[in-house]
Amino acid sequence: MLVFFCFFAVQNYLFMIESMDILITKTERSKLQDINLENIPFGRYFTDHMLEADFEKGEWKNVEIKPYQPLLMDPSMAALHYGQAIFEGIKAYRGKDGKAYIFRPYDNFRRFNASAHRMNMPVVPEEIFMDGMRQLIKLDSNWIPSQKDHSLYIRPVMFSTDHMLGVRPSESYKFLIILSPTGPYFVKPMRIAVEEVYTRAAKGGVGYAKNAGNYGGSMLATTIANKKGFDQVLWTDAEEHKWLQEVGMMNVFFIIDGVAVTPSLEEGTILEGVTRDSVIRGLQDMGIKVEERKINIDEIVAAYQSGKLTEIFGTGTAAVIAPVQELNYQGIAMTFQTADYKIAPSIRKWLNDIREGNIADPYQWMYKVN
Ligand code: COI
Repeated sequence: MLVFFCFFAVQNYLFMIESMDILITKTERSKLQDINLENIPFGRYFTDHMLEADFEKGEWKNVEIKPYQPLLMDPSMAALHYGQAIFEGIKAYRGKDGKAYIFRPYDNFRRFNASAHRMNMPVVPEEIFMDGMRQLIKLDSNWIPSQKDHSLYIRPVMFSTDHMLGVRPSESYKFLIILSPTGPYFVKPMRIAVEEVYTRAAKGGVGYAKNAGNYGGSMLATTIANKKGFDQVLWTDAEEHKWLQEVGMMNVFFIIDGVAVTPSLEEGTILEGVTRDSVIRGLQDMGIKVEERKINIDEIVAAYQSGKLTEIFGTGTAAVIAPVQELNYQGIAMTFQTADYKIAPSIRKWLNDIREGNIADPYQWMYKVN
C-alpha cells in the first residue's frame, strides 16, 4: 500500500499524518442538485460517495472511495446472523472560513476500535479511518449544510462478511464510511419513561460498545414506550431496575441543586459519549460542578419532590443536547418547563459556538479537513 506524508494545519497546530493512496472514482452526476439541504431530516439522504475497505487474510485491502451504491451480499454473511457489527456517529460542520471541520474525530476513532476489540473484530488502522474520512469529506464537502443546527453526519461502520453459518469470529470484514446531511434529530423536548422491564446493558456485557445489537435490542422497549406517548426510555440496571444508565441512545445529565450529575462509566454499561465528555468540560469551564457517579431513581424522585431537580437532558452526536420535559416513573409524571432551562441551552450554545467558529476552540476539537 503506497503511503506518503502530508502536513496540514489544525487551528494553530501543525500535524503530520500519513496520507494514504486511496483509489477514488467520482460519480458522473451529483445528486446534490436534487436535494434541498434546508430543514433536512436526520439520516434519510446520503452524499455522492462512500469509502469502502475489506479485511481479508489478516490485512486491510481494497481501500476505495467510490459513488454511493448498494452492496452485494451473500445470504450467509456472518454479520446478518451473529451480529458482529459496530458503528460510529461523528459530525462535520462548515466553518466561518467556508472550510470543512470535523468535531473530535480521533475520539470516535479510538471508541470505534474499543468497540471492535469488544466484538472480537480487527482494528481499523488510523490511516484508513482518519485519512479515508478526510478524503471522503473533502470530495463531498459541498454537502455540508450551512443552516443553523445542521451538519454532515458521518457514519463509519464495520461488519463481518464471512460466508458460513458456524458460530465463530469472522475472518473477513468490511469497513465503510457513509455521509448524510442532516438537521436536528429531535424537534421538541422529550417525554421519557423509566424502563423497568427490559435492560439495555449489564455489567460484563457490551453496553459500552457501539455495536448494532445494543440498538436493535432497545427497539421493543422504545416502541412500547412510544405507544404510551413517550419519546424514549430511561434505561436502568439489569438487577434492580433502579440505577440509571442512558436515555434512549444518549447519555443523560441531571441538574440537582445546581450540580450536574451524570452516570459514571466504570461499570461498562454506558457509552463513553464524545458529546458527554465535551459537555462535562464545558460545564466545568462555566464553573458548574460535575459529578460522574451512580444515580438511583429514588434520588431523582426525591430531588424532584424537593424542587432541587431543575433540568434533565440527553447528550449525543445525533441529538447534541436534548431537553426532557417529562420523566415518568411508575405512572408518576415529573414535569419540567424546558423554556426555563438555563444550563442545557447554555452548554448547547457553547458547543454550537465552537462548532460554528463563533468563539475560540479551547481544546482544539475542530479538525480541519483541508
Ligand atoms: C449518535 O448520536 O451518533 C448515535 O449513534 C445515535 C443514533 C443516531 C444511533
